[in-house]
Amino acid sequence: MKAAVFDAFGPPDQVLQVRDLPTPKPGPGQVRVRMIYSPINPSDMLVVEGKYGVLPTLPATPGFEGVGVVDEAGPGILGRLVLGKRVAVINSAGGNWAEYAVIPARQARPIPHGVSDEQAAAFFVNPATVLALVRHVLAVPRGAWLLQSAAGSTLGRMVIKLARHDGIKTINVVRRQEAVAELEALGGDVVLASADGNIEDRVREITGGRGVLHAIDPVGGATGLGLFRALGEGGKLVLYGALSGEPIPIEPRAAIAGDRRLEGFWLGHWMRKRSIPASLKLFREIGRLIREDVLSSRIGTIYPLDRIQEATREAASIGRDGKTLLRL
Ligand SMILES: NC(=O)c1ccc[n+]([C@@H]2O[C@H](COP(=O)([O-])OP(=O)(O)OC[C@H]3O[C@@H](n4cnc5c(N)ncnc54)[C@H](OP(=O)(O)O)[C@@H]3O)[C@@H](O)[C@H]2O)c1
Repeated sequence: MKAAVFDAFGPPDQVLQVRDLPTPKPGPGQVRVRMIYSPINPSDMLVVEGKYGVLPTLPATPGFEGVGVVDEAGPGILGRLVLGKRVAVINSAGGNWAEYAVIPARQARPIPHGVSDEQAAAFFVNPATVLALVRHVLAVPRGAWLLQSAAGSTLGRMVIKLARHDGIKTINVVRRQEAVAELEALGGDVVLASADGNIEDRVREITGGRGVLHAIDPVGGATGLGLFRALGEGGKLVLYGALSGEPIPIEPRAAIAGDRRLEGFWLGHWMRKRSIPASLKLFREIGRLIREDVLSSRIGTIYPLDRIQEATREAASIGRDGKTLLRL
């Protein structure tokens, strides 16, 4: 089979190569999936750069999620149940940027009808994170404000649509002025360009001086600090990404006197704490909300695997329009 492989950590467009590898065989409790599409997510890029929380032994193939059809099952009941089915391929070890991937059968989740292959490619990572952050970790009540940065990301757009669906108001921070009108049209209640001034002052104007109680940030640095300072008393900021690569210089007094909280979120940890029925419920909810165009992804260019360098360059570009997919 063909697979994208890297032997050393570094810039994805330099270290990734397409190679012929032996087609893998599923072992007990595993299935083999004939891959259709896999997205290029920021977490995949971080793995190749050697900057992710958990790194593979090299050489390795990236790719945490995607869609495909189960073409062989190893010994075990679960695998037989999904044989021949189109599934979300949740590959916590990475390895989906290949023609075939072997994963635990329990992580091959059948995709409901009415969800296209392109949407199914990004079925899990972003939709599950959005539901986890908005409905569980922050449990934002109806009518409350939710403040977010990188609001034009695939995930940020889902937050805007879910908030509208759930009766939550959003204040959205973007780095490019050009993104403002587009996110307002998508349903963002307020959209601010970070270059336009102090985030804290703008948020306090909007909230009558009180600040917000709920905020999420995948950027860090000055943007993360702006969101933290915009919290009202008792407010919480959840950090779920590190797009700027910069630390957040928080003043201890701001946290202490304002009773403000800062928390990290990682989907892998969060999912491990969920029971099997709760995970199944989450999957059903994701399927329903993708069909209703609430947790659907904006899809960008689709590249064949042999154009992997070009695909990763596009995925890393500023102002990219939609999620870049690999056709496998
Ligand atoms: N913790 C978790 O479990 C978890 C799970 C899922 C996703 N995430 C994180 O969620 C974030 C969004 O993921 P995604 O798939 O939606 O990404 P995406 O579609 O690739 O979008 C990335 C967005 O980030 C913006 N951006 C990039 N660098 C920035 C910077 N330095 N300052 C401000 N904005 C910046 C880009 O802005 P432009 O439009 O201006 O280019 C773009 O809108 C990523 O950080 C990802 O790692 C975390």
